Amino acid sequence: MSLLSASLLGIKFANPLLNASGVHCRYTDELDALAASAAGSLITKSCTLLEREGNPEPRYAATALGSINSMGLPNQGYAYYLDYARRHNYATKPLFFSVAGLSLEDNLTMMAAVRDAYIPAIVELNLSCPNVPGKPQIAYDFEAMDRMLAAVSAEYALPFGVKMPPYFDIAHFDAAAAILNKYPLVAFVTCINSIGNALVIDIENESVVIKPKDGFGGIGGDYVLPTALANVNAFYRRCPDKQVIGCGGVRSGEQVFMHLLAGASLVQVGTALHEDSPRIFARLNRELSAIMERKGYRSIEALRGKLKTL
Ligand code: FUM
Repeated sequence: MSLLSASLLGIKFANPLLNASGVHCRYTDELDALAASAAGSLITKSCTLLEREGNPEPRYAATALGSINSMGLPNQGYAYYLDYARRHNYATKPLFFSVAGLSLEDNLTMMAAVRDAYIPAIVELNLSCPNVPGKPQIAYDFEAMDRMLAAVSAEYALPFGVKMPPYFDIAHFDAAAAILNKYPLVAFVTCINSIGNALVIDIENESVVIKPKDGFGGIGGDYVLPTALANVNAFYRRCPDKQVIGCGGVRSGEQVFMHLLAGASLVQVGTALHEDSPRIFARLNRELSAIMERKGYRSIEALRGKLKTL
């Protein structure tokens, strides 16, 4: 086993890094670049039944502390990603398939199609897109989330994961975890999607910086790291039979190390990848290796979830 090797659902990964869904993964050439990069795996853009153009531009802005976006699920439709997933070489690295249907029925249709393709793609069901006008985040409506997970578990009948929004209250961690724990096929929990419906203001122009939703959008990057770590650790503690994928605020090996300590099995990179290129994964791996060697860790398993409390 090499220093950085990781594991999820019994599948081996050369290292714990991959893109966050939505970044560098809408088109096949972007996915090919991730496949050729030093990332341990890759994930497709969250897809809907039909192709979507998404929200009007500008819909992403970089800021001093990260980014804000309201993309609105621009994607090529699930058949495009299923075709990619069929052609992917799983011997080189695992592939995640992100699903974000606009209804329960759409999710059932898409996940049945993935199941019936008999490919080893790992489904991450997105319950947390904050950017589709008129479509609230499922995971903020606990009854809707429960119904979704019951229906998807019955139809898909294979292990899958869920992409969660950030929660900010212990009672909400408890309630969400209790629902997730009802469903053994929910094998992993990805924490977190962007912190939704924030507002960035440009003081010179006295204006918002993105066009959709009067400037409201999901924030990522440095803004979200402590919230992401809290959510990773909260679900790691509450869902002992599931694995956690960390996402949020990763721009160097240090933040990858923090996510692993908090309990993450794999770690996704969003804003920092958007601002750089898939070359970032080689740097993150180097930096993570250097921290682990300095601290005398010989494997990710040796440090995963080992966060100390005072
Ligand atoms: O707007 C978007 O496409 C983002 C999706 C997400 O954050 O899940």
